[in-house]
Amino acid sequence: MISKKMAKEINDQIQRELFSEYLYLQMAAFLKGENFDGMAKWMTIQAKEEHSHAMKFFEFLYDRGENVILQKIDSPKNDFKSVLEVFKYAYGHELTVTKNINNLMALAKKENDYASESFLKWYVDEQVEEEASFDKIVKILQKIKDSGNGLIMLDKQLGKRE
Ligand code: FEO
Repeated sequence: MISKKMAKEINDQIQRELFSEYLYLQMAAFLKGENFDGMAKWMTIQAKEEHSHAMKFFEFLYDRGENVILQKIDSPKNDFKSVLEVFKYAYGHELTVTKNINNLMALAKKENDYASESFLKWYVDEQVEEEASFDKIVKILQKIKDSGNGLIMLDKQLGKRE
């Protein structure tokens, strides 16, 4: 069993993970339009990861005897001006997601919901990785600035993501 409040918060988080998928897919579209196919591939894989994050919550709710109620997903930002802006925005988005996960963890602790606490630990660890990978790319882009060669090399590098 899981509390109604926790079930609602997890349903909200499913929406947020699916929004992340949508946002990263929009970013992949921008990168593709700029002919950075490697970066677009990296971002498409990121979008797929977000889908899997949503689905882990999806399965968890049923394992705990609750139902998934899908919510409206807003259109993501689509007026990016540069690659740096894309990755900076994504990094900022991940910081918000970390706050959301921490709030869920705080609720699980408050409710003595040990099963949710154990389950959420995976997301706490995942957010450390998520923040680090975007932060690293932002820092590289800040060094590259407007160097065409630098961007082409980074594009090649990010395109290796499997
Ligand atoms: Fe689902 Fe990028 O955190």
